[in-house]
Amino acid sequence: DSLTPIETSTSPALKFEVLAKCSTTKARASKMTLPHYTAHTPMFMPVGTMGTMKGVTTKQLEALDCHVILGNTYHLGSRPGAELLDKAGGLHKFMNWNRGLLTDSGGFQMVSLLKLANITEEGVEFENPHDGKKMMLTPEMSIGLQNSIGADIMMQLDDVVSSLTTGARVEEAMWRSIRWLDRGMAAHKRPNEQNLFPIVQGGLDPNLRTISAQELSKRDAPGYAIGGLSGGEAKDSFWRMVTLSTDVLPTCKPRYCMGVGYAEDLVVCSALGVDMYDCVFPTRTARFGNALVRTGSMSLRQGKYSDDFRPIDEDCDCPTCKNYTRAYIHTVATKETTGCHLITIHNIAFQMRLMRDIRQAIVDDRYPQFVRSFIRRRFGKTV
Ligand code: GUN
Ligand code: ZN
Repeated sequence: DSLTPIETSTSPALKFEVLAKCSTTKARASKMTLPHYTAHTPMFMPVGTMGTMKGVTTKQLEALDCHVILGNTYHLGSRPGAELLDKAGGLHKFMNWNRGLLTDSGGFQMVSLLKLANITEEGVEFENPHDGKKMMLTPEMSIGLQNSIGADIMMQLDDVVSSLTTGARVEEAMWRSIRWLDRGMAAHKRPNEQNLFPIVQGGLDPNLRTISAQELSKRDAPGYAIGGLSGGEAKDSFWRMVTLSTDVLPTCKPRYCMGVGYAEDLVVCSALGVDMYDCVFPTRTARFGNALVRTGSMSLRQGKYSDDFRPIDEDCDCPTCKNYTRAYIHTVATKETTGCHLITIHNIAFQMRLMRDIRQAIVDDRYPQFVRSFIRRRFGKTV
């Protein structure tokens, strides 16, 4: 890219250069230089929970033009475990991935996966699924694990409540998350090699969200995340919370909206000034036989595809669409995991292409037109 940066922010392990801004929305296209890779935003980061994307190799992820992938502290902490990761020299080396890596702090996954998690001021208490013993994940331990993993971006341990929770618990979680952030920042041993992102919380309460974003902005972090959303709340409150957060957070630092990956959300949130996204949706839905296409989703388990000899998407240049037909995928997808791998590849390619299209539309300063034609194609000619 030969574009000259409009604005730049430099942290010890992250440089963020805004290359283009939309003149009518808050969308921007940027270059983010991380210790292992230079990524272009807005970007989508596929989730590779176990340090390996289910059925997809790191070589395939490279070929699909993934810049940053997501690892998960909770899973990595128990397997391969901190000791082995230290011995291996970090997760990058261990899994042979030399691009950007981001790890979530683990608490969110424990709370959502293990119903038995109990949150105290000290940390997240949970029952070890392997031996049933009570264990505690503290903000310090989460950072310690993430320092062993060695990701380019680490997330603070936060106290996450469902976006549907109301009342005093939402405020308690918001303030606790800020205290846990400060404990995590104090425990961070590698600030010159790894970035620690705070996470805005505050449920769907505009006042709490604003306070959270203001408090986090006082801490000079290399980038910020928006959390606690995409949990079944109405789109209009979700988008309001995102807008409010991006209004308060520093303009020239990356903003990451956690757990968001539906195409329409990527398009809208980018207009609201979000730069990074992750979600299990594209890869999870692939395992149920669903391929992402511009009009929505295609369920390849349906019988009508058994003699359809077209690729999933004629305009897609992914290895799946170049080599296999709907009929083939239908036949194997209904019986074998191979079909799911093929759809996973296509779905990641779909997300990556959408993000490239978003970036190009911002650079060309035609983002509003892009949004309109995206919505028209996806939801019919009513807009
Ligand atoms: N993934 C999706 N939402 C969240 C969140 O609010 N916090 C964390 N840590 N991870 C998430
Ligand atoms: Zn494809």
